[in-house]
Parts: sequence; C-alpha cells; structure tokens
Amino acid sequence: MEGLYIDGGRPLTGTVEISGAKNAALPILAATMIHGGVYTIHRCPDIADVALAGEIIETLGGRVERRGGSLVVDTREARGDAIPGALMGKMRASVLFLGALLARFGRAALTAPGGCPLGRRPIDLHLDAMARLGASVVLQEGAIFCEAPCLHGAVIELLFPSVGATENVLLAAVSCKGTVVLQNAAREPEIADLIGFLQAMGAEIAGTGTDTLTIRGGAPLRETTYTVMPDRIEAATFLCACAGCGGEILLSGADGRHLGPVLDALTDAGCRVCRGRDTVTLQTQGRLRAVREIETAPYPGFPTDVQAPMMAALLRAQGESRFSETIFEKRFAHVAQLRRFGAEIEVVGAGARVRGVAALEPARVEGTDLRGAAALVIAALQAPGRSLVLGLGHLRRGYDHLEEKLRALGANVAVKPVES
Ligand code: UD1
Repeated sequence: MEGLYIDGGRPLTGTVEISGAKNAALPILAATMIHGGVYTIHRCPDIADVALAGEIIETLGGRVERRGGSLVVDTREARGDAIPGALMGKMRASVLFLGALLARFGRAALTAPGGCPLGRRPIDLHLDAMARLGASVVLQEGAIFCEAPCLHGAVIELLFPSVGATENVLLAAVSCKGTVVLQNAAREPEIADLIGFLQAMGAEIAGTGTDTLTIRGGAPLRETTYTVMPDRIEAATFLCACAGCGGEILLSGADGRHLGPVLDALTDAGCRVCRGRDTVTLQTQGRLRAVREIETAPYPGFPTDVQAPMMAALLRAQGESRFSETIFEKRFAHVAQLRRFGAEIEVVGAGARVRGVAALEPARVEGTDLRGAAALVIAALQAPGRSLVLGLGHLRRGYDHLEEKLRALGANVAVKPVES
C-alpha cells in the first residue's frame, strides 16, 4: 500500500495550472455516447474518474485514447447498452450514461452507482425524469432497466436542483421527439459546460445558467471538439491549502467568476484575493481569522465540495468558525481524522464548529472520500513534522498530478510504500 508522506509547516508559494473540471468532463464523456463520432476533448483531467468513464465507453464498444492533455473518444462502433456493476459501483457519475444510452439506443441496463460515501445518495430524481420522458423503468435485484423506443417531450420540475439529474435530462432530451422544459434545474457551471458541448454537437438548448432549461429534441447531431472548463473545486482546494499554510499563490487557467462564495470566505478570513481574467491570486497576511458561518448550498451558494478543504484551512484561525452542511447528510467523515492533528472540532447534527488552535501536530490519517482526503492533505501541510495521509485512491479520483503541483509550491510531499 502507498501513502502520501508530507513534511508540513512550510508556506506555499508559486503558480499552479488548474486542470479541466472533473465534474464537467464526466458528463461530457457520457455525452459522446449519444451520437456515434470521433470527439476530441481538450483539457480533460488525467484522473481516475475520467479513466473509469473511458473504461465504461470501451466496455460499450467505443475507443478512448489519451493524447497529452486531451482525450480522443471514438463512439462510432459503440453498440452496448449495459454497464457492468463492477464499473457502475466505482463512481456516482456512471449514472450519467443512463440518459446518454437511452438517447442513442432507447435502452439502458445499469446497477446502482457508487461514489463517495456521503450518506444516502438516491437516484429517484433521475429515474422519475426518465419516466416523464416516456421511458419504462424497472428495478430488479439491484439492476435498473430503462427502455424507451421513443422519448417524448415533457415539462419536468425537479423536486431538488440535482446536478446529476439535470445532466441526465439534458443527455436524454436532445434526442427526444418534441420539446423538454426542465424546471428547478441545477445551475452549476459544469452544467453550462455540458450544454456548451451538446450545443457544439448541434443540440438546441436554451436557458443556460438559469433554472429553466428548454431542449428542442431531435436536432441533427455531429461529432465535435471541445475544451473543458477549469476545475473550480481543484482551484478552491489550492486556495484553501495556501490560506491554511500561509504564502502567496497564483492559479493560472482558473475562472474566478465560479468561485464567488469561496473567495468571499477566504477574504473574510483575512486573505488578500485578486481575480484576473483567467487567474486568481491569494496572499495571506498573518494568522487567519475565523469565518462566521459557511453554509453549503446549490450553486451559486457555497459548494459542498469545498466544505472539507475550507474547514482544514481554518483549523488554526483565530476564533470559532461554523459550518453548516445542507447538501449531503454524512459529509463530516474528515472531522475525526482532522482531530488527530490536534484540531478542535465539534459536530452537532448537520453543523460543525471549529475552534482555531495555535498549532497542529503531525498525524497518520486516512481519507474516506475525495474532498475529505484533500482536507487531510491541507491539514498535514500545516503541521510541522512528518504526516502520512492514506486513502490515496480517493485523491487520485479527482486531483490531477496533485503531488507535482504541491511540490511546485514548495511543499515537501512524496508517495511511498507505507512502513507499518
Ligand atoms: C454532483 C457532483 C458532486 C457534488 C454534488 C453537489 C458530479 C460528478 N458530482 O454530484 O461533486 O458534491 O453535485 O454539488 O458532478 N438527490 C436525491 N435524489 C436524486 C439525486 C440527488 O435525493 O435522484 C440528493 C442527493 O442525495 C444529495 C442532493 O440531492 O443530497 C445533491 O445531489 P446531486 O446534486 O444530484 O449531486 P450529484 O450529481 O450526485
């Protein structure tokens, strides 16, 4: 087993190039299945979840080739409409192939998707929406069979602006007969990026960036080339790391417009933050101050994916910071591990209170989900001495060349076999 050894206690200074967004690349890769063609996806992050999406496409009969920072996907010969449970179970976003396969073949056979253990993660909104488009949905011993010889138009209102359900509706609706109006749609920037890709394929979609999307189904589709948006969660993670450790960081290829509440929180904590055209810089000025209340919410609110990294950034802040998690019910698994560094955190229901301590101490910890593991890395970077972060597999799912990027900022990190 390998682990990430971190000799912490140094400031982080330098430049980081932000990779393409995981949460945009995954639905875009699913979208390549809708219409057989050769797609070139630039700035496609080199992470395990993208590799897994590629494996799913290959299982369905497509071909996937990485060429540097780009992925070339050929779905011309893809004929499969079933995804094995072993692949479905590894990642939540595998469920996005449901809408794409229904659109292409009128059939899809899947099992329940896996992903980070963040509490109950049902897919009822996805399945209800597919039924509203005319698909029959049969659940049998953990398997999901969807069939729709012809998807039709509909007005669908989501009970909650689910990111995945919004994406699944978009993917299925582009090939339906008629018009689909999706109300209470999620407004995350990654959805706008998926819409941009579908439009580049020829799809007719109106309402980008709003909570009402109108898709005129049946427009002729074509293969295309596309560049994925920058990863706002990766950007936020590096900003939190620098805020926690002290230093000065420049993110290149980052879009500050997507980071509003994160930058506001870091500014409240005493950091100097500056947005450029495609850069964001952060400079710390002495010890951080606690932040009043960070409440996660659907976009444009504070992203749930940044709750854990922000908590790690504020472990040494002066005063008490409060967090309230409203999106996922079990998203405090990192708290017990953060306490091993000497952090003072109390969890009550869906809230957490962090009392800043003067210093952290090194620890051996294990991440159990992607962003929680990133929080442990941020804590270890602040603790003078050698820490060990286990659960590398989670970090690999979502962070492109993490160790190299941290080293370029002056961090002392190395992946090595774990000495017991
Ligand atoms: C996506 C992101 C994830 C992020 C999350 C919220 C990807 C690949 N993942 O996940 O990083 O943390 O958005 O911003 O883009 N829900 C239901 N029924 C459903 C679907 C969702 O009850 O059918 C609930 C979930 O349990 C959760 C909430 O809705 O409590 C938000 O989930 P959703 O927006 O669907 O997140 P994901 O698409 O899974």
